Amino acid sequence: MKVVGTIAEVREYVGAAKRRGESVGFVPTMGYLHDGHLALIRRARAENDVVVVSIFVNPLQFGPNEDYERYPRDLERDIALAETGGADLVFAPSVSEMYPRPMLTYVNVEKLSEGMCGASRPGHFRGVATVVCKLFNIVTPDRAYFGQKDAQQAAVIKRMVGDLNINVQTVTVGTVREPDGLAMSSRNVYLDAGQRSAALVLSKSLSLARRMIEAGERDAGKVRDAMTRMIQSEPLARLDYIALVDAEDLVPLDRLSGPVLIALAVFIGNTRLIDNILVEVGGCPPTASP
Ligand code: PAF
Repeated sequence: MKVVGTIAEVREYVGAAKRRGESVGFVPTMGYLHDGHLALIRRARAENDVVVVSIFVNPLQFGPNEDYERYPRDLERDIALAETGGADLVFAPSVSEMYPRPMLTYVNVEKLSEGMCGASRPGHFRGVATVVCKLFNIVTPDRAYFGQKDAQQAAVIKRMVGDLNINVQTVTVGTVREPDGLAMSSRNVYLDAGQRSAALVLSKSLSLARRMIEAGERDAGKVRDAMTRMIQSEPLARLDYIALVDAEDLVPLDRLSGPVLIALAVFIGNTRLIDNILVEVGGCPPTASP
């Protein structure tokens, strides 16, 4: 596996692969890799001739009071893990390589970026869409892989790709969880033992929602209220939002039907965690439990 830091090196590597007729899979990450990232890399490995992983903590997607500075970083470990997953090339650029001068051009995916995490983190999805667009232009992958845990991000990127005719197929890979149900996240490292156990309230409240729907509940307000009560019963948790939305366009639902995304964000101490499930209401059986 090769590790490079410049755009020119990526272009040379990918250009040579394409001249050989090879397909390119791409996994963009902010590093501090965990099993969730490895699932993306392994999927890319299985579906492509060449696998490129980027490791870049993107300043553009962090708000002024967010955790950009203290976001966990461990490049040596990430490189070893990416290799374990089967990556061929790791692209780990500096901030100045990605942003050599002040940006005047941004990608803003309207509507899809505005609710849920977008409401709590203004500018976040503009930063995500812009860097992913840049990375797509640098790597020119055939397929790019994103985690279902960041469901809104996956929807935003999918829409950007469609609206801007970017020649890449986006693939969403299911959330990887710890054995007790906690969704894997680089930010889990911030949690102390008490907070780690309190964080289970996210997946438990999603399981509660699923049970209510399976028992026939179709009133989104009632499901949200029950989830809210459960989260409020955890002293270390502070609810940011709960959303029950159409899984395609992320529009909030009053009555639950069709593919429904149930998503939430909760502060555990100062750490903001997100999680979600997809439920097919009234149709096929629901997807795997958290
Ligand atoms: O999901 C992430 O890790 C980031 O938002 C991404 C897609 C790598 C863009 O910086």
